[in-house]
Amino acid sequence: MKIGIGNDHVAVEMKKEITEYLESMGHEVINYGTDCTDRCDYPIYGEKVANAVVSGEVDRGILICGTGVGISLSANKVRGIRAVVCSEPYSARLSRQHNNTNILAFGARVIGIELAKMIVDEWIKAEFEGERHQVRIDMLKDIEDKQYEK
Ligand code: RB5
Repeated sequence: MKIGIGNDHVAVEMKKEITEYLESMGHEVINYGTDCTDRCDYPIYGEKVANAVVSGEVDRGILICGTGVGISLSANKVRGIRAVVCSEPYSARLSRQHNNTNILAFGARVIGIELAKMIVDEWIKAEFEGERHQVRIDMLKDIEDKQYEK
């Protein structure tokens, strides 16, 4: 799988470790995040990865900031993005199976690297189950479309 990864200054080290982890599993990882620990603004990187996902440049995205909150909110502003912020693997897996999330986010100040790898692992492997869940995804899209009609 081709995965876009993005991060702010808080998550430079965790981004590198997650990138290595994904590559060790055979995935291709494109870096859209900062490699500098000088203070910067998470919306820049949330938007970059979100655009890469909706354009098809990458298959899915992973975002890391201090909490995972700001960067996931940024990504969710982009039409077609369903980003989830997770601190445990169960929600990560279910967010794929039921919600067809296309971006996973987590917080470098919230979880440690081993838990982050476990979350990534569940999220990468889980497949969308479709059927009744697709109906709800379509409803999400309807909400989004209505906002653009305004
Ligand atoms: C940066 O201090 C911090 O606000 C950011 O990494 C993130 O946690 C925001 O949601």
